[in-house]
Amino acid sequence: MPDANATLKLGNEEKSFPVLSGSVGPDVIDIRKLYAETGAFTYDPGFTSTGSCQSAITYIDGEEGVLLHRGYPIDQLAEQSTFPEVAYLLVNGELPSKDELDQFTYTISRHTMLHEQLANFYRGFRRDAHPMAIMCGVVGALSAFYHDSTDITDPKQRMIASHRLIAKMPTIAAMAYKYTVGQPFMYPDNSLSYTGNFLRMTFGVPAEPYEVNPVIERAMRRIFILHADHEQNASTSTVRLAGSSGANPFACIAAGIACLWGPAHGGANEAALNMLREIGRPERIPEYIARAKDKDDPFRLMGFGHRVYKNFDPRAKVMKATAAEVLKELGKSDPVLDTAQELEQLALQDEYFIEKKLYPNVDFYSGVILNAIGFPTDMFTALFALARTVGWVAQWNEMISDPEQKIGRPRQLYVGEPQRDYVPVEQR
Ligand code: CMC
Repeated sequence: MPDANATLKLGNEEKSFPVLSGSVGPDVIDIRKLYAETGAFTYDPGFTSTGSCQSAITYIDGEEGVLLHRGYPIDQLAEQSTFPEVAYLLVNGELPSKDELDQFTYTISRHTMLHEQLANFYRGFRRDAHPMAIMCGVVGALSAFYHDSTDITDPKQRMIASHRLIAKMPTIAAMAYKYTVGQPFMYPDNSLSYTGNFLRMTFGVPAEPYEVNPVIERAMRRIFILHADHEQNASTSTVRLAGSSGANPFACIAAGIACLWGPAHGGANEAALNMLREIGRPERIPEYIARAKDKDDPFRLMGFGHRVYKNFDPRAKVMKATAAEVLKELGKSDPVLDTAQELEQLALQDEYFIEKKLYPNVDFYSGVILNAIGFPTDMFTALFALARTVGWVAQWNEMISDPEQKIGRPRQLYVGEPQRDYVPVEQR
């Protein structure tokens, strides 16, 4: 039942539309009948005022800097939970009991290997291929190997596909790294944690035992948890839109990876570290702040600003603390971290950033951590994709199970030529 109505006056006609309330957060005006009743569409490029679906997975209050997964605050999850537990929570809706968690962790560990034939896909790429290019290709190719879980009308197949994606993503990302550095692929070790196994597949070699450093493992776990889901962002909306046509889950996640790659989204952590390196030393910061403020310069401070967070990004707080922890453990001092801290301080005192409510986002410090751990910059977005796969599959499952789900089909404001007659080439 609608909670209220909104009235729209178009010309001389007034139409009433239901206003719906969620459990928390702003109300929405239900305009599904707008076109049928008025013959007009809404215009909202970038969907800044448009809710595209109902969802019970993640809640963000950008003004207050709140991020909840199934109601649980992100900082509590990052501190106290594990990545498989967060995955279970996102996909199933509730925290698991001990038995449920053991069973889920076991199930995920049974799906960590890839079909051996998939290794040949890697060999078709150039050695200097970007890991995200490899991930798009290999994840898309999974549908050719796991066809027994592509019937999206069957909830059991959907769950198997979800488990496969969550389980195989670390293997796929680690293999992308190994391929570019020319080392042998490492098979998963299911006796390790989800994160420990990923670190071993990435940094271990078959010739030596690999010992997982618990501080690095914890940092990685936090990074994965902080990136697990973020409501209807660009890549998640891409997954939903691809999935709305009934496409198989592997193809949908490959579409999400493609969208995530962009520098305004998942590619920002790579771009932020490159920017910090380019700045190089704290004395050059004012020059870059001036460039970020200059309307005629396309430069933006990467790792700053967010479409939704207009107060602070709660993920950035955890990242900042983790960056300090990791550098201490590794006994490294990193001029990039010094530059980052100074840049943050100066920008936060600057009128331009204050007025536009621009704060460091999750990507500002994550690059510093990943760099210290030993990941090359072009792996950063691949790690984001690995973690976000959990959110993507949760959102995809939610969409497919939603009885109101329809194929996504936005409309447009057409500004091109009206109808005209074709002119043969010799008469033009
Ligand atoms: N540096 C300088 N100016 C900025 C920045 C920035 N990083 N971000 C926004 N602005 C300005 C922008 O120029 C605009 O100014 P004006 O009103 O005078 O035209 C104003 O702030 C509002 O920006 P917007 O682009 O309309 O805001 P948006 O909500 O569309 O953009 C954003 C959000 C994240 C794309 C943008 O802040 C940005 O490009 N940031 C840098 C890239 C980045 O760090 N992205 C990671 C996002 S977090 C990870 C994720 O969720 O994927």
